[in-house]
Amino acid sequence: MAKSKTVFVCNNCGAEHLKWYGKCPTCGEWNTLFEEVRAARPTTVSAPSAARAGMRRLSEVDSAGEARYTTGMRELDRVLGGGIVKGALMLIGGDPGIGKSTLLLQICHHLGRNLRVLYVSGEESPRQIKLRANRLGVADGELFLLCENDMQAVIDAMLTEKPDVVIIDSIQTMTLESVASSAGSVTQVRECTAAVMRAAKSGDIPVFVVGHVNKDGAIAGPKVLEHIVDCVLYFEGDPNTSYRLLRCVKNRYGSTNEVGVFEMRDRGLCEVENPSMMLLSGRPKQVSGTCVASVMEGTRSLLAEVQGLVSPTGFGNPRRMSTGFDYNRLSLLLAVLEKRAGYFFANLDTYVNVVGGLRLDEPAADLPVALALISSLKDTPIPEDVVAFGEVGLAGELRAVSNADARISEAARLGFSRVILPHHNLKTVTPRDDIAIIGVKDIRAAYEAL
Ligand code: TYD
Ligand code: MG
Repeated sequence: MAKSKTVFVCNNCGAEHLKWYGKCPTCGEWNTLFEEVRAARPTTVSAPSAARAGMRRLSEVDSAGEARYTTGMRELDRVLGGGIVKGALMLIGGDPGIGKSTLLLQICHHLGRNLRVLYVSGEESPRQIKLRANRLGVADGELFLLCENDMQAVIDAMLTEKPDVVIIDSIQTMTLESVASSAGSVTQVRECTAAVMRAAKSGDIPVFVVGHVNKDGAIAGPKVLEHIVDCVLYFEGDPNTSYRLLRCVKNRYGSTNEVGVFEMRDRGLCEVENPSMMLLSGRPKQVSGTCVASVMEGTRSLLAEVQGLVSPTGFGNPRRMSTGFDYNRLSLLLAVLEKRAGYFFANLDTYVNVVGGLRLDEPAADLPVALALISSLKDTPIPEDVVAFGEVGLAGELRAVSNADARISEAARLGFSRVILPHHNLKTVTPRDDIAIIGVKDIRAAYEAL
């Protein structure tokens, strides 16, 4: 008979070890290994039986019928690839307090009008949920609550009551009795997710699952969960600003390039349909050191304000600081500006800030950052009607970037009259008469073209 075996599983990274360590040898975290007893599985492969083979021709599989439900929030629908797919398991991760529960309760309002929604909470009492629902203006509709920590009870409710949509807040509070480890541990989370996945597929019920993130920002029970589920969404945003981005990192039924933009108000999350307008509101006029960048967030172009500030160093080494833009990329840009374009920052403190809590990771943000810094250095404002984008190479040259047309249209739509872009992009962009398109070859030329 096969023996059961004992393994030690790390709650932080999910690694398994044969003996206990104070510090996980895989991820280096302290005191995260927990003992777990695994029942041995029979390893022999039984003879094939005719009944088990369920082969079907793809063309015979029925895909007709209403395939997607809309959530009533266009931003969320877009991120999901056009709505909720029946039988899909969707994981929503994010820092505590970012608004995961709020978002899911809000979509119940729309879903509950024609569908039966089951909201399972392992964190809040029915009264607390009711209070929040009242505050968010969620009409009662066909919304059912279940405050439960036992995953099996939830699955039983799912399969007997057959709701149209299920929301589980959060997977870390759920436990399966058959699994020995405590709630929130990697094994427990993984087994619970796998169990709910089976229920979702067999009942053809879409399920939203909330997952907390650990301090590195990964969903606890890390990558293991992302493999199991159909769709992984991250809710992110600076806690100090009210804007929230919903980003898709995996989607079996849509593109992962989409982001949804929301704003947290006193009555819950509101969709932001015109994010550029919001990011540019409050832009100072006739002040040096600010430049408008046209960047892509997924397939959508956004205009964001980049600010640079240069001031004489008080003592010692000059300080460099950047918020929303990569620090190393800033150092590199400063070196290029000095060596290739002749703008000197050696004894100057340099600060870069992207307004609105946005993070500009793409290379196209190089040119606007460089222009904002030069503008601050020279103390001359960049004209208000200018938008810039382009990657800066180490030789000081400007390199072509993708989606130039989408970036230009967004600038034109918001009433800008000039766009500065890399010369090489001119070959592919469609000429337009509502905005002047100025192609430049290097940083110096870009600044002179202003
Ligand atoms: P919540 O959805 O509970 O976060 P999560 O489930 O991701 O942990 O969000 C709570 C935060 O949202 C809280 O800090 C207060 C804020 N909030 C508002 O600003 N307005 C509102 O109407 C609600 C319900 C919450
Ligand atoms: Mg919550």
